[in-house]
Amino acid sequence: MALRITVIGTGYLGATHAAAMAELGFEVLGLDVVPEKIAMLSAGRVPMYEPGLEELLSRHVAGIEGSTGRLRFTDSWEQVAEFGDVHFVCVNTPQKHGEYACDMSYVDAAFSALAPLLTRPALVVGKSTVPVGSAARLARLLAERAPGDVELAWNPEFLREGFAVDDTLHPDRIVVGVESERAERTLREVYATPVAGGSPFVVTDFPTAELVKTAANSFLATKISFINAMAEVCEAADGDVVKLAEAIGHDERIGAKFLRAGIGFGGGCLPKDIRAFMARAGELGADQALTFLREVDSINMRRRGHMVELAREAVGGGSFLGKRVAVLGAAFKPDSDDVRDSPALNVAGQIHLQGGQVTVYDPKGMANARGLFPTLGYADSALAAVRGADVVLHLTEWREFRELDPAELGAAVTNRIVLDGRNALDPVKWREAGWVYRAMGRPRS
Ligand code: UDX
Repeated sequence: MALRITVIGTGYLGATHAAAMAELGFEVLGLDVVPEKIAMLSAGRVPMYEPGLEELLSRHVAGIEGSTGRLRFTDSWEQVAEFGDVHFVCVNTPQKHGEYACDMSYVDAAFSALAPLLTRPALVVGKSTVPVGSAARLARLLAERAPGDVELAWNPEFLREGFAVDDTLHPDRIVVGVESERAERTLREVYATPVAGGSPFVVTDFPTAELVKTAANSFLATKISFINAMAEVCEAADGDVVKLAEAIGHDERIGAKFLRAGIGFGGGCLPKDIRAFMARAGELGADQALTFLREVDSINMRRRGHMVELAREAVGGGSFLGKRVAVLGAAFKPDSDDVRDSPALNVAGQIHLQGGQVTVYDPKGMANARGLFPTLGYADSALAAVRGADVVLHLTEWREFRELDPAELGAAVTNRIVLDGRNALDPVKWREAGWVYRAMGRPRS
């Protein structure tokens, strides 16, 4: 009989994973402890903006006309334990408040709730990003508290927001940390379709599987901070970091991706993952190995401060008091409504705290931005945001902003100065429309 799958935690990762498992042909039961989420998902709607996810979900959620009916949601741990052969744990592991370390309370709560109910044979598969060593500890917890024949595997997830559906259905690799052949066989069965489609299947032990995830995110963060460090040097030397990135990216050993200089990385993963990794390395006595990540983090945070200083210079060099600053972008990256650790909102917030009158517009991130920074000004279009502005800051590179008409915007502002924090606008187009265009790590003219 085909494996029955449960997905515990239906946030970004879990909702996408549940829908993808149903798409692969499995019967799936998703669990969340937030009743509103269950209600939304059961109606085929997703609580965040993610291209293609709602369509995928609606294709499978039971009760929706024309759906396969393979996907259901519940808040009952008993139902989940009774239903599943394979339980994917997809809960959040945020940064602890005021600390670098990772907050494991949601993972621990999920395992504690599930374990005593597991009376029949099952494989529990951790997908959350966790400090290395967690899987071994959680395997002990299962061995002590689960009455049935229950095993653990660790299967990190590499999906990117904005591409979550495609990344889940066609992963560029599947990594499984296992302690038995039986666990490996079960996961080979779960992932048979993507593997047949060409996704490499990498089998490791627990610590390696956990580390693959943090190592990958640390590498990506390092690559971005590297190019941002080059942007700092380019600015000092009047070089052009965009050309430099293009040129070094032609070297296949370096590669062209993740070399976009600007106000740096944010979001719910890269910043907290490198910090949690440093904290964990410290606990293991290997902190020296990761001191470079401290620098990666500080280059990244410096970018935000640098954008604030460029804005200050643009409004006359003194105080922001009485100055109107338009901010285009609130999400941490385009095609997402996620504002967690968003560089754009951080810059907006700093200028607001220094007395600037900030007006923010983002195509999808407004509701989340308002929730996080209620005291900032908001407008419902780019044109409305720039009205009367002394300077315009482009901080999240949405396609909508690249397609703006600089002449139309120019007629609405007080000063035609645009600071491109993502090196994504066309300098020629903006300058031809009479704007002073300034970017990070590029010559002034
Ligand atoms: C990241 C990883 O890419 C993904 O594999 C992992 O599973 C989760 O973390 P995500 O947070 O969705 O995914 O965003 P990503 O596309 O990696 O971008 C992260 C941040 O880096 C964004 O703020 C983005 O604007 C910034 N970035 C990215 C740059 O500043 N320059 C670049 O060249 C690339």
